[in-house]
Amino acid sequence: MNTPRKIIIDTDPGQDDAVAILLALASPEELDVLGVTVVAGNVPLPLTQKNACIVCELAGLPDTKVYSGCDAPLTRKLVTAEHVHGKTGLDGPVMPDPTMALQDQHAVDFIIETLRAEPAGSVSLCPLGPLTNIATAFNRAPDIVERVQEIVLMGGAYFQVGNITPAAEFNIYVDPEAAKIVFASGVPIVVMPLDVTHKALTNRARVEAFRNLGNEAGRMVAEWTDFFERFDKEKYGSEGAPLHDPCVIAYLLKPELFSGRHVNVEIETGSELTLGMTVADWWGVTDRTPNAMFMGGLDADGFFALLNERIARL
Ligand code: BDR
Ligand code: CA
Repeated sequence: MNTPRKIIIDTDPGQDDAVAILLALASPEELDVLGVTVVAGNVPLPLTQKNACIVCELAGLPDTKVYSGCDAPLTRKLVTAEHVHGKTGLDGPVMPDPTMALQDQHAVDFIIETLRAEPAGSVSLCPLGPLTNIATAFNRAPDIVERVQEIVLMGGAYFQVGNITPAAEFNIYVDPEAAKIVFASGVPIVVMPLDVTHKALTNRARVEAFRNLGNEAGRMVAEWTDFFERFDKEKYGSEGAPLHDPCVIAYLLKPELFSGRHVNVEIETGSELTLGMTVADWWGVTDRTPNAMFMGGLDADGFFALLNERIARL
């Protein structure tokens, strides 16, 4: 058996972040979650901290190490998404307050120390929110950049363009300067943009399958989705909600579910109109060097089968 792959999940939970964390924690044979680092995004930092702990306790793993990170983007005012996730960020079911403690260390210090302590090329970063913690770590400790095995992140869009503005996806829009640093870092990057996450759509049958798993985690995933999907149904007229962030973890477990292109991706930080746009050279019309595997295709049935199988284990 292979040794599990070491990952750090950087997150701003968020119902879809919560499902991603559950998927990772349910997969210890493949994934060794060294820590969950929390950033401000969907809701302010005190709530994303709390939500991360709620999710670890729901998974029955209160010993998971959760580190609190940056409470605001590198240079801008925080933009949040209560209109999607509700005022707690995890609206839907009523959840007990967590009892587990956060780690004392700052998330950025944890990322730096871990990358220095573990063998070079053995730790992957999995950002599910704005890239503030990752960019801060890269700025503060440039020596860690070449030690990162891979970054697999949710963010951006090309064909789907934007969800928070007509031109930008939320995670990149909130901290475009951070995204620019990460995309320019030279680390191998796999991107799960809206182009692929909008194919990870729930529908009635898929939500009922979670509810019928017979465990608390399955029931919570169904109730979170019930809440979360009202926004996308109204906005896109879709049957359900996209489970954006679980695509990152599903890729680590079953990369064959996804297809995409290795292309150049640049981040817009200057224009007010298109701030946070991920300018992906999908058609290869420039000679800019490819810096990211930009996903576009998903086997959605395989994705939901994987989620069901893993959430059932919790
Ligand atoms: C991303 O933004 C957040 O609202 C979700 O958690 C996801 O990470 C989708 O644009
Ligand atoms: Ca997120």
